[in-house]
Amino acid sequence: MTLHTKVALVTGGSRGIGREIVLALAAAGADVAINYRKRDDDAKVVLNEVNKLGVKGLLCKADVTQLQECEKMVKAVLEHFGRIDILINNAGIRRDNILALMKTEDWEEVMDTNLKGVFNCCKAIMRPLLKQKSGGKIINIASMAGIYGNSGQTNYAAAKAGVIAFSKSLAKELGRRKITVNSIAPGFIQTDMTESLPQQLRESVLPRIALERFGKPEEVAEAVLFLAKSANYITGSVITVDGGLSL
Ligand code: NAI
Repeated sequence: MTLHTKVALVTGGSRGIGREIVLALAAAGADVAINYRKRDDDAKVVLNEVNKLGVKGLLCKADVTQLQECEKMVKAVLEHFGRIDILINNAGIRRDNILALMKTEDWEEVMDTNLKGVFNCCKAIMRPLLKQKSGGKIINIASMAGIYGNSGQTNYAAAKAGVIAFSKSLAKELGRRKITVNSIAPGFIQTDMTESLPQQLRESVLPRIALERFGKPEEVAEAVLFLAKSANYITGSVITVDGGLSL
């Protein structure tokens, strides 16, 4: 089964895991709307690659922390493609610190992007998706930190745990409409987000990973593709893509 005739929206699609998700969906035949916040040049490169795969792409510059911007983005997707079938909430940030030193702004920024951003995008697509009456797939990128917690990441872990609980609740709400909602919990994946971690921390984590390496963004995209393409009887689940970190 391919995603030909399906339209996907991927948040934070200009780099890292989001970029690979965009390309995997496009390679499977979906037209893809690529959300990004700042980096126009990176987004244009991804759009170009999408077009080379023989499907249509659309750049959607929007800040997921703002509901109005998400609504405008969804309107643009519907005007351009006429429908929307798949939403991948991937945009995320980290602002790590131990709680004693964590600023309220760091808490709020992470909550607003990683949790409220998911609410905003789901809210923005909800009415059009229900009106289409043709089912749908919502896939939210959570984190292993949202299941096991992580020292120095009370904000990030709480937001990601929220994403998982949000997804399970929405899965219950939307099941009878044939819309599935699932989360993916990556472990350590090689992107800008982990590149900026202290070298000492990166090295201390490696022995705890059964596969003895960080994951590649495309390995998260493979799990997204599985949920988006098939997996019609999987909803409310959390798929871990962590190389065995949690074992
Ligand atoms: P990244 O830093 O390379 O990319 C993050 C993307 O989110 C960027 O495209 C950025 O523009 C976008 N973004 C951030 N704030 C935004 C906003 N307000 N509005 C719209 N877009 C915004 O990060 P990476 O590693 O690719 O992460 C992608 C997702 O995977 C995030 O949700 C992250 O929390 C999650 N994740 C990553 C892990 C890793 O090891 N890299 C592990 C577990 C989860």
